[in-house]
Amino acid sequence: MHSDALQRYVRATGADHSDVQAEMADHADEHGFPIIGPDAGAVLRLLARLTDAERVFEFGSGFGYSASWFLAGGADEVVLTEIDADELEMARDFLDREGTADRAQFEHGDALDAVADYDGPFDVVLIDHDKARYAKGFDLAREKVPEGGVVVADNMTKGPVDIEVLADYFAEGEPLPDDVGDPMAGIVEYVEHVRADPAFESFILPVGSGLCMSTRIAPRED
Ligand SMILES: C[S@@+](CC[C@H](N)C(=O)[O-])C[C@H]1O[C@@H](n2cnc3c(N)ncnc32)[C@H](O)[C@@H]1O
Repeated sequence: MHSDALQRYVRATGADHSDVQAEMADHADEHGFPIIGPDAGAVLRLLARLTDAERVFEFGSGFGYSASWFLAGGADEVVLTEIDADELEMARDFLDREGTADRAQFEHGDALDAVADYDGPFDVVLIDHDKARYAKGFDLAREKVPEGGVVVADNMTKGPVDIEVLADYFAEGEPLPDDVGDPMAGIVEYVEHVRADPAFESFILPVGSGLCMSTRIAPRED
């Protein structure tokens, strides 16, 4: 969302934070930590409700803000993965105070390793870790997502991306600049990767920092 008026309108009419979520958002502001924010959060909450989510898996949970939205949407279980032990400890504390920690699993370490420890099914997956390894995360999770399940990836329009370069590349066929950088190259790779996957329908939802939404439309192979 790139019009200021549009953004203010959506925010003014959007989801409200709980008291603990408001504290989390303040903490993110104070420390410059990139959370998905309340508008994208409301999308996660909606997905948990629409899929009647039994299990959600997150790649890169930070201190639990995005997980708090899945839990607010009634997810029976959210698996949080985080490489930074301090962030994960904070997540435990925030979700404990929110009264939802009993529905959360806290996995410290590389999300790309942790995902192998869970059989699925994952009704919803959030990809929000190292941008250069988004496509790898998708590949590790895709067979654990049932038909009708959704993979969401953040930072398609904001964060380590230049929206003008992305538009020129995808809409006009312009080459990517040589100095595009690993995070943005990872986002481009991700979008191309999921759009080419015939088992998923994908599109970019320009809410928050831009969410790539991929719904599984084919049965799992196992
Ligand atoms: C954008 S933040 C996540 C924000 C969170 N999803 C939210 O909206 O509340 C990205 C997080 O991913 C973590 N991270 C990066 N690479 C990771 C990896 N390979 N495995 C697990 N966590 C990782 C970082 O430490 C950071 O806390």
